[in-house]
Amino acid sequence: MVGSSIAFLCASNSLDDVVLLNRTKSKAIGEAMDISNVISQTSNFTVRGTDDYQEISQAKVIVITASTGVYLKNRTEIISAQVEMIKDIAKKIKTYCMSPIVLVISNPVDVLTYFFQKETGMSRNSVIGIASSLDSQRFRYIISKNIGVKNTHITDAWVFGEHGDSMVPIFSKTKIKGKNLIEKINSKQKEEITKEVRNYWRTLRKFKTRSQFGIAKNTFDVIKSIIKNQTISTPASVLLEGEFGQNEVCMGVPVKISSSGITEIQSMELNSSEQDLFQKSAHTIRNYIDSVY
Ligand code: 2OP
Repeated sequence: MVGSSIAFLCASNSLDDVVLLNRTKSKAIGEAMDISNVISQTSNFTVRGTDDYQEISQAKVIVITASTGVYLKNRTEIISAQVEMIKDIAKKIKTYCMSPIVLVISNPVDVLTYFFQKETGMSRNSVIGIASSLDSQRFRYIISKNIGVKNTHITDAWVFGEHGDSMVPIFSKTKIKGKNLIEKINSKQKEEITKEVRNYWRTLRKFKTRSQFGIAKNTFDVIKSIIKNQTISTPASVLLEGEFGQNEVCMGVPVKISSSGITEIQSMELNSSEQDLFQKSAHTIRNYIDSVY
């Protein structure tokens, strides 16, 4: 339901025309019919459902949420099938579409962002994996809950690296009312917060089959910044070419996004333990990439 939720947000906020594409055409049409009913009287945008890539040939933004199956314990469980799928989608987008900005949501997102970019040869600035912003949102939520501080008092709660067990919450930058968070917590609290952020999706799955709204809102925010050309600063997965000391890997880093996609990979000074964890995270993703090559 992630794709539908994103479409719902785009339509209800009168952002632009929306096309839902699914290999099962009837499913796409059904979702489009339902979402069409949120279009306001002041908007002429449309929502359509299709199984035909030609119908998205003019798309400015393409969001990939497709999945070949369900993973239970790890996002990389069905990695081979997911990589095959993303290569197939990449070939079709390359054949039918003009020059879209592609947002990859499907998991394992860093690995799939990498293979999508390689398969299409598109500029790395136009192929963006969305997940670290969701992890950052969760990081802020858990700090607020565990430390007992207001959400609105927490700033710069970033999570970088893999959207997986090696993700790196950046405690050294996080502020509570402008003061450093690390001065307020001990190492046990830090460990607990890290564990909770990494396992958030597993905890959620005890109650609901899949997460949906958090990733949808984070994706919508990026689509909006592209369509309206309003720069957004957010962590996202992108092919690194030397930034943060990494090459040949896609992973979550702080970026600026506007109408042409990623306009800047922001540099940020991490402390030595964060640097170490970031490097390990890069290594983890690269191993996954190598395992399917
Ligand atoms: C999430 O983090 C499963 O990647 C999905 O909610």
